[in-house]
Amino acid sequence: MNQALFLRDNVSFQDEHPAAGDSRDELLAGLRAEPKTIDPKYFYDALGSRLFARITRLPEYYPTRTEVGILHRHRQQIAAHCGVSCVFIEPGSGNCEKVRLLLDAVRPSLYVPVDISSEFLRAAALQLGGEYPWLAIAAVCADFNASWDFTRRLPLGKRVVFYPGSTIGNLEPADAVRFLARVKEVVGAGGGALIGVDLHKDSACLTAAYNDAQGVTARFNLNVLLRLNRILEADFEPAQFRHRAFYNTDRQRIEMHLVSQCEQSVGCNGSRLRLRQGESIHTENSYKYTVQGFAALAAAAGLALERSWLDDEALFSVHYLRAT
Ligand SMILES: C[S@@+](CC[C@H](N)C(=O)[O-])C[C@H]1O[C@@H](n2cnc3c(N)ncnc32)[C@H](O)[C@@H]1O
Repeated sequence: MNQALFLRDNVSFQDEHPAAGDSRDELLAGLRAEPKTIDPKYFYDALGSRLFARITRLPEYYPTRTEVGILHRHRQQIAAHCGVSCVFIEPGSGNCEKVRLLLDAVRPSLYVPVDISSEFLRAAALQLGGEYPWLAIAAVCADFNASWDFTRRLPLGKRVVFYPGSTIGNLEPADAVRFLARVKEVVGAGGGALIGVDLHKDSACLTAAYNDAQGVTARFNLNVLLRLNRILEADFEPAQFRHRAFYNTDRQRIEMHLVSQCEQSVGCNGSRLRLRQGESIHTENSYKYTVQGFAALAAAAGLALERSWLDDEALFSVHYLRAT
């Protein structure tokens, strides 16, 4: 485990970013698979994180404003479930916007934002630490699907994992159960998890949220190719691909793809990668749940649903789960 450095007196930063060789191997395995895939964590370089922050403010993107409304409205009840002075761990913390809605009510003894996007995380943690001088922040750059070893160094006390944004929907349901089981292990008996989950709804509303009129989601999706160019010394040309997002009704998930616009052969890691015209690279899923479906998923991981909060239109949900 790497040493944490202090960025300011109330903010430390620990870098546990996966090794470059691991990223290369994982990306190449995905690109050689049939169909081709890229893990969505590769979206989040500094530009990808900024583009995602823009997506959250788009008129079509209902999840963020709806979840923000739920967190703000129910912050006191949420704080009561979290208890006094918990250690608040947020995997996939992004710009740390949502935690701001809870800090004054929850008053954690320590806030631990965890994200794969190193530079963005440092900036977000520093900014938050300046705005909340009373708050101790221990930021960790790590892959939350790999090691949670950093939690071994955390102080004693009740732990609550805060996982908003329906980031859980990016995982296959079986992987979501594994992720929640890890959360259970990390928080221990009596600990909790506060999780934001997007709900089933009309497919037109879902499809619009991932196909915004300004094309920001398309830029976000295509930006991953520039990331691949850097990591794999590849020469993907974004103009030769098209963003495609649709609701897969059978699987109850939004799928995002990059579709090759022509037959092409792309230089990649010292060899050639062939793509047919119309062939797609699958870049993200976003599963949608019912409250009952999500409660069953959590129960399979040993987390009991204590309370759910929904907006008036039942577009989005936030759940407090207790480790049994
Ligand atoms: C959908 S965004 C959600 C951001 C924020 N939590 C919100 O609710 O708006 C996903 C966040 O998780 C981070 N992320 C994605 N995959 C990750 C991984 N495997 N390990 C750590 N962070 C990851 C991204 O960098 C990004 O900040």
